[in-house]
Amino acid sequence: MQAESDLHGVTNRLFGQTPGGEDVYLYTLDDGAGFTVEVMTLGATLTRFRVPDKHGELRDVALGYDSLEAFLQGPRYLGATVGRVANRIANGRFRMMGQEYELHCNNNGHHLHGGASGFDQAVWKVEDRVSLRGPSVRFHHISPEGDEGYPGEVTCSVTYTLLPGKGLELTYKAKSTGVTPINLTNHTYFNLAGHGDVLQHTVMLDSDYFTPVNTELIPTGEVKAVANTPMDFRTAVRLGAAVDANGGGFDHNFVVKGATRVLRRAAVVSEPDSGLVLIMHTTEPGFQFYTGNFLDGTHVGRNGHNYVQYAGFCLEAQHYPDSPNHVNFPTILLAPGQEYRQQTRYVLEGCKLS
Ligand code: GLA
Repeated sequence: MQAESDLHGVTNRLFGQTPGGEDVYLYTLDDGAGFTVEVMTLGATLTRFRVPDKHGELRDVALGYDSLEAFLQGPRYLGATVGRVANRIANGRFRMMGQEYELHCNNNGHHLHGGASGFDQAVWKVEDRVSLRGPSVRFHHISPEGDEGYPGEVTCSVTYTLLPGKGLELTYKAKSTGVTPINLTNHTYFNLAGHGDVLQHTVMLDSDYFTPVNTELIPTGEVKAVANTPMDFRTAVRLGAAVDANGGGFDHNFVVKGATRVLRRAAVVSEPDSGLVLIMHTTEPGFQFYTGNFLDGTHVGRNGHNYVQYAGFCLEAQHYPDSPNHVNFPTILLAPGQEYRQQTRYVLEGCKLS
């Protein structure tokens, strides 16, 4: 089995145990040309993403740690798969087909990222998988009926495929036994320099619209034009300048142009020192652009770098936050017999491949 795994550029090892005594495994995807991705079964989490920069020097472009213990102690959601519903549901409540549902509130009186025991806290199972397109691993999780207050039993998977010399593709699928909201995403913090803050990065977002929020980060329901606001990234801008203009970091959902369910380019971020460019494509209607505003420097990450405010940025491809409470937002309801599907690609350019 080991030899077969190696042949496909996938190896695994025991990474540690959860406080509850469950084994957590770490899978390494290696394209043999300098791209390496590591993912662990806890939260189907991306723990490492290493690529060669413009000089061929390897850089860690995702925040992470070398041990499971450090992940357990560090800020939550780092690199994780987030569900059943990513981002916030106001007051942990929504109405569906005449019935009121109450979810666990774990963030300032609101439901955030699936609640106290969201998908990021689950130990996912790995299914054997061979992809002709590159090293690949598929994680599988069952969320029981009533999980955090959600109806229906959800069976879902997320497949990480390393596209050789190109980037990372995430494919999500889910089914449910009852009608339920579902909105999965990945919460990787990128830093194309590998360390420090990301304020020297240049950001271009393809969005004409965003969804404004109140002071508690709950959408007002408006879908607003970015024109003449600090949310206008249609022309590339240095992130530091944008943060100054905005009076703080970003934590907003941007609307991806074009038809959903089709991969469309959503964001292009570059960093001058490494020469690296990250391009996100997604089938989703939106994405949360989050600049690590809540990172506070109390955690020391890989290579001894402190995860200070703005140490990374997230491009969380998703449906809009609080969708169950806004009829004008694209629906996130999944009914029995239907299949939820999402695909997102993080492509890296500017790499000197070996
Ligand atoms: C998301 C949210 C942020 C924050 C982070 C996790 O990106 O939008 O407000 O909760 O997750 O720290």
